[in-house]
Formats: sequence, structure tokens, C-alpha cells
Amino acid sequence: MNAIITGVGAYVPDYVLTNEEISRMVDTTDEWISTRVGIKERRIARDPNQASSDLGAKAVEELLRKTGTSPLDIDLLVCATVTADMAFPATGNIVCDKAGLTNAFSFDVNAACSGFLYAMEVATNFVRTGKYKKVIVLGAEKMSAIVDYTDRNTSPLFGDAAGAVMLEPSEEGLGVQDSILRVDGSGRHHLYQKAGGSLHPASAETVAAKEHFIHQDGQIVFKHAVSNMADVAVEIMERNGLSSEELAWLVPHQANMRIIEATARRMGLERSKVMINIHKYGNTTSATLPLCLWEWESQLRKGDNIILATFGAGFTWGAMYLKWAYDPQ
Ligand code: UT7
Repeated sequence: MNAIITGVGAYVPDYVLTNEEISRMVDTTDEWISTRVGIKERRIARDPNQASSDLGAKAVEELLRKTGTSPLDIDLLVCATVTADMAFPATGNIVCDKAGLTNAFSFDVNAACSGFLYAMEVATNFVRTGKYKKVIVLGAEKMSAIVDYTDRNTSPLFGDAAGAVMLEPSEEGLGVQDSILRVDGSGRHHLYQKAGGSLHPASAETVAAKEHFIHQDGQIVFKHAVSNMADVAVEIMERNGLSSEELAWLVPHQANMRIIEATARRMGLERSKVMINIHKYGNTTSATLPLCLWEWESQLRKGDNIILATFGAGFTWGAMYLKWAYDPQ
């Protein structure tokens, strides 16, 4: 028994925040952002009443529609997010309410940019037990809620989006074949949202010090991302005896074009086999991987060998090898 992906849904807000508009907010240029990061524009949920759960519910609704599934048939929803609607209850719980998943249970996974991969691993093993037949894995992020739009180091990087996949059991030898997941909690000093938790509860001082926004030591994170993401991607190829020719696609986390290129190079992969949409959406944290699968879905074929690879706050990182389970409808 294995877990296969049987459908993909996603949602991106309509508003397009261009590099040109960011250049009017902070001291930066389209040229700097394009060449150093690879982003041209990102989507932003400008409606203050629209939370991560709203983006997530829209992605789930599209997934249900595309797969012809009743919301009542979903057993479990695992929601990856770092931009939870509130500290509790879990954003997954709220998505279930908004999308009508009244027979499901749900919980959140917080592994930052590796959240979708961690959630895939968790959900896959729920499916493998045989007890859960329809499981949704969701990445939903309103990153604009924690971005400081006066900080040029972070404001160009992030976007809002949600993406979801359906996991179902199969005995065809397809689906999730292998995974490598890692964490190094000492990385917490380099990429974090300082205040708002039990260590630094919200106060007038934490707000004044801008401690509720993302803080990132870009270069340090960059170095760890390049080596760790490539290491696990190559390791998972080697231990499954996969050559670069046998690999159909790399689905990399979309944080920086240079990190993606370095990973592909280490894997010996030509660029045409790498899913890249960072220029359109920026870094949408746990939504980047399903957003890629959603965009490339019509090009995927049953049996395609695909590697997903991520690196994010924590530090968390990992790679997953799966065999795609269906041809385009
Ligand atoms: O998704 C979770 C994991 N996150 C990542 O994987 C992100 C990893 N890090 C990165 O992608 C890159 O480090 C960044 C894109 C964040 C930054 O790029 P960088 O090439 O590492 O730039 P830097 O921080 O080393 O800064 C280089 C220069 C500095 O100026 P000086 O000190 O050399 O004069 C910065 O002040 O670029 C300057 N700079 C900017 N200039 C124009 C930094 N941000 C900007 C900006 N516009 N937006």
C-alpha cells in the first residue's frame, strides 16, 4: 500500500505586486531583485479580512472540484503554514470549516519552507496504514502578513498563495517512493519571527521593535540552503539508483533562483526538467511545491520520476522521490 497524488489545486490572490512597485517602497531595483533572487512579481492578498485559511480553502475547493470529490469524503487535512490565522486553533481546522470538510480531522505542521514536504511525509504514512482513504495536504501562506514593507532585505522575497494535493492509497507501485527529512534547530537564530510566542510574548515593545516580522540573515541561510538542499536531492537520487536521465522533474523550493540552479547542477539536471515559477510568485513558503505541481500538472505523465526538494527556517530541509500517478485529464 502506498500513497499517490490524485489531484492538485491552488489559489493565488489577484493583486500583482511588481518589483517596480517594491522599488517605490524601499531602496531597491528591479535589476537587483531579478539578478540576485530571480523574482519579477509576487501575489498579495490585500483584503485585510483574507487570512491564510481563506487562501487554503480556495485551493482545497479547487482540488475537490477537479477530482470530483465531496468534502464529506475527506478523512484528514494536514495544513503546512507559518502564517497561521491565529496561534490557535490550527489553521487546518479553520480550512475544514470553510471548505465543508465536516467528516475530517486536521492539524497544522510548522516546518516553514519545508512544511509541505514534512506534511506530505506525515500524510503519506496515514494513508499507508490503510485507515485513511482521502487525505489532503495543504500549504497555505499569507506571507504579506509578516513582511516588513520598509525592509529591503526581506520585502522583495515573499508572496501569498496556497496549494493542495489529494493523497489516496494505491498498490500500483506509484506515489511516494522515498524521503529524506532533516532539521537543525540551531538555525533558528538566522531565520525567524522573533516575538508573539512564549519566548517573547507580544507587547508594545515587541511591536515597536518590529519583532513580529520575518528576520533573515540572508547570506547565512543562502549558504546552508545551497549545500543542504543539493545534498539531500543527490542522496535520494543515489540511494534509489536514479540517473539524471531517468528523472523527469525536479520540484525545488522557490526561494532564490541561484539556489535552484545550484541544486539542479549538482543533480546533473538540465534546466528544462526543473519547475521554476519564482519570477511570478516569489517565495510562498509552504505553498511553493504544490504551486509548481499545479502549474505543471498538464505536462506530468503516469510513472514520471519526480524529486521534490526544500530548505527553510528551522533549519528544515529534505527531499522526496515520487512516481507521478496519472496522465493529464
Ligand atoms: O525560503 C526559506 C529559505 N530562504 C532562503 O533560502 C533565502 C536565502 N538567501 C537568499 O536568497 C539571499 O541571501 C538574499 C536574496 C536574501 C539576499 O541576496 P544576497 O546576494 O545574499 O545579498 P546580501 O544579503 O549579501 O547583500 C548584498 C548587498 C548588500 O549591500 P552591501 O553591504 O554589499 O553594500 C545589501 O545591503 O545587497 C544589498 N541588498 C540590496 N540591494 C538592493 C540587500 N537587499 C537589497 C535589495 N535591493 N532588496
